[in-house]
Amino acid sequence: MNICVIGTGYVGLVTGACFADFGVNVTCVDKDGEKIKKLNHGEIPIYEPGLKEIVDKNLREKRLFFTTDINESIRKSLVIFIAVGTPPRGDGRADLSYIEDVSRAIAENLNGYKVIVTKSTVPVGTGKLIEKIISEERRQGHLFDVASNPEFLREGSAVEDFMRPDRVVIGARNEQAIAILRDLYTPLYLIETPFVVTGLETSELIKYASNAFLALKISFINEIANVCEKAGADVHVVAKAMGLDRRIGPKFLHPGPGYGGSCLPKDTAALLNIAKGVNYDFKLMDAVMAVNLNQRKLMLVKIKDAVGKLKGKTIGVLGLTFKPNTDDVRESPAIDIINGLIKEGAIVRAYDPAGMKNAASLIADKAIYCKDSYEAAEGSDCLVIATEWNQFRILDMERVKSLLKRPVVVDLRNVYEPDAMRKMGFEYKSVGR
Ligand code: UDX
Repeated sequence: MNICVIGTGYVGLVTGACFADFGVNVTCVDKDGEKIKKLNHGEIPIYEPGLKEIVDKNLREKRLFFTTDINESIRKSLVIFIAVGTPPRGDGRADLSYIEDVSRAIAENLNGYKVIVTKSTVPVGTGKLIEKIISEERRQGHLFDVASNPEFLREGSAVEDFMRPDRVVIGARNEQAIAILRDLYTPLYLIETPFVVTGLETSELIKYASNAFLALKISFINEIANVCEKAGADVHVVAKAMGLDRRIGPKFLHPGPGYGGSCLPKDTAALLNIAKGVNYDFKLMDAVMAVNLNQRKLMLVKIKDAVGKLKGKTIGVLGLTFKPNTDDVRESPAIDIINGLIKEGAIVRAYDPAGMKNAASLIADKAIYCKDSYEAAEGSDCLVIATEWNQFRILDMERVKSLLKRPVVVDLRNVYEPDAMRKMGFEYKSVGR
């Protein structure tokens, strides 16, 4: 089968490479010629474990192609995945102009039956919009179906998530489209992946409901952590005991500076807008988002409590990305916290294993970028752990203590044991313990 994936961003590239690895012929399309040139040489523009290996392998085996020629790619494909961006507009709603452009290109090049599938997260009703554009603008009367097949890929483990997903969701109105998509996912049948087959709108909403629920779990445990701090309780034990209840589950109950990244912040805001659009006041979603932003402010207060006035103090910050194993700093709590520190007159010595280049344009000019964790600690009044990269879990704490001006550690990801840190002579603060 020939398919094409339009948009070689994060979702498109992982989707294209993984389908090629399933044995399908995949053409990945992007209008950015430089990017396509690099991809054709096996240069991967994002940091994603395992991705380069499967891109290289499938380029070599001639099942994966990269091109800027959208017209030809559409014409030769039975299935077209749309994975272009839907950035938030000023009013919080998603900007669908890229989706609309692609739909027009599909209409122009429709030369036989095709299934058009949305892979990027799109507002409810986008499938219908694509159907309308193609129906109105197609030149000949060729048939087509529109389907929704949302991705649930986590950055840092996207390839693994694609190859071994918890579920695959397919939304479509027509049996033929469903059968073709099932066929594409044959390798996942063999490992007994559950398939949820449903209507277009339901499928579109599943993605938002899932991400919003994850965000809700995080905001919930962060509020519990804040109560624990005041009540003298330990949030980790609370979360562990809660998670043993199978109705609740243990995942996404880790407290910290709040969620970030390209998905949860955008999808919670979009869901709120979807609700508004149908005249529903989704109070819980509003609260989840407000709690998340407030959590960043509380982390700043925590650092202030540890060092006293921030003006003139030097703060070492470990971790800039929104989570470990990625170079993505979008909506990263660490960035907000650092900008807050600088605004109040602190000098920041920052280190991140992968995110420093991306972070530089988002952080006020004054930050100092260090070559490792120890350089960030050197001469600092306090060391803040903002992202739980593995290398921050195994620091030589005696060395850290000797480098710091004062032995103060504020651990926003609860990586270290409070008792052990205090025994070593640190003034140690974490979240909810
Ligand atoms: C998320 C969803 O998990 C994925 O299914 C969807 O397709 C895209 O959005 P991602 O944004 O890559 O994936 O990251 P994820 O691992 O979900 O973490 C999101 C944020 O929540 C991170 O900032 C992380 O630090 C934070 N988090 C996560 C917590 O603070 N506590 C937790 O218990 C879990």
